[in-house]
Amino acid sequence: MAPRVPDEIDVFTAPHSRMKELVNIYTEKCVDFRDGSEVISLLQDLTNTLYEFKSHESIENIFIMDQLKNRLKQRKIINAAICDCHNDNRLADVVQLVRTGTQVRERSIGERVSFGLKLQQAFEDFVRNFLPHMEEEEQVFQPLLVEYFDYDELKILKEVVLKEHELV
Ligand code: FEO
Repeated sequence: MAPRVPDEIDVFTAPHSRMKELVNIYTEKCVDFRDGSEVISLLQDLTNTLYEFKSHESIENIFIMDQLKNRLKQRKIINAAICDCHNDNRLADVVQLVRTGTQVRERSIGERVSFGLKLQQAFEDFVRNFLPHMEEEEQVFQPLLVEYFDYDELKILKEVVLKEHELV
């Protein structure tokens, strides 16, 4: 395990706490997919949540990964792990399924239940990928940031990241 970095330059842990909180809400949620209103309400909540996950990804791409890539490029260092770290998650599958679910009220109970099982499976697949992905960012990318950025740069970066996540 990578050594703990001081909180003021730790750019991942606070946003990840929020992401884990969102994951837990849906992992523990119990929805009766036979009930059209319950499904509609779930899809509305999930749409907002998926937007938060997507924003998290974009913020990391723009403010962390691109900066890290540039810094390594300047030093002529190649690190393949950084290149496409957000191209391998299952978030897009869940987003697509939620979009197709909006007419669920007009569907039969059987179709709604079948949709619910698919949605549950897609969300579980996403979470199975997302939790280790966040751990990798904390264990691999945070130490790289500490190695190639100085304390003041990281302090500013952390403030920007929290602001972009609306966590301050
Ligand atoms: Fe922090 Fe890329 O999820």
